[in-house]
Amino acid sequence: MTAMLEVDGLSKSFQALRAVTDLRFTVNEGEVLGMIGPNGAGKTTAVNLLSGTIKPDKGSVRFKGRDVTGMPTHRLVAMGLVRTFQSTTIYAERTVWQNVMRGTFACSYRGFWSTVLGSSAHKSAWNASADRVEHLLTQLNLRDFRDATAGSLPYGRQKALGLAIALANEPKLVLLDEPAAGLSSEEADRVADVVKGINASGVTVMVIDHNMRFIARLCDRVVVLHHGTELCIGTPAEVTKNPQVIEAYLGSEHESA
Ligand SMILES: Nc1ncnc2c1ncn2[C@@H]1O[C@H](COP(=O)(O)OP(=O)(O)OP(=O)(O)O)[C@@H](O)[C@H]1O
Ligand SMILES: [Mg+2]
Repeated sequence: MTAMLEVDGLSKSFQALRAVTDLRFTVNEGEVLGMIGPNGAGKTTAVNLLSGTIKPDKGSVRFKGRDVTGMPTHRLVAMGLVRTFQSTTIYAERTVWQNVMRGTFACSYRGFWSTVLGSSAHKSAWNASADRVEHLLTQLNLRDFRDATAGSLPYGRQKALGLAIALANEPKLVLLDEPAAGLSSEEADRVADVVKGINASGVTVMVIDHNMRFIARLCDRVVVLHHGTELCIGTPAEVTKNPQVIEAYLGSEHESA
């Protein structure tokens, strides 16, 4: 089993608040790793640290064997580590197609220089990107919305668009921060199936969510986060049986289920 992402002793405080403390886990190549935990457990902070949005106080991150601790986002994206956001980040006035197309050029200079030069390289880069956009629109069930402005899409489709934009960067590892937040359980099941398809196409996935049902449906292994550190790591069946997890987090969900 090859490690794609190795997180070792990662810590981040905001003034006196220890948001992430001594976090350790590995994402293996080809797997779907879930991260679950209650509000304020540090999940988004962990994703921000892994994706270069913020820098850790301590600890290290290795991606494909290279130390990438504190590396800025654009370099991580160029290496194949891409994240989505808990809230959608789209250009609301632009069409779905334009948003995804822009994503394919987001972290490369090929678009800029070849556009300036108007070269044949530009044309083939453009065509390759356009093909990729078509593929992504199909994969994420957005084909019927290609000419709609992004801001006019229903919420679930906006989440799908956020995912399409992330995938436009051709990631090796994609970090998904609550891709199913605010969706009905039917829509969440659809997202789980789409993410499975993305994983089957060769992309390693780390996915954050509150909902154990969603995570269990989707993930090979789960990291349970509590007070900024891992409480338990295992298969969905293992973590849902873990007494510490039940007490810390799942108890209340089971009671209300
Ligand atoms: N930029 C910041 N400045 C100060 N405190 C922050 C900052 N970002 C996060 N925090 C705090 O760090 C803790 C962890 O927050 P984080 O957003 O990582 O949790 P989360 O697990 O993603 O929660 P949620 O499930 O609500 O998305 C919280 O107490 C939060 O208020
Ligand atoms: Mg969060």
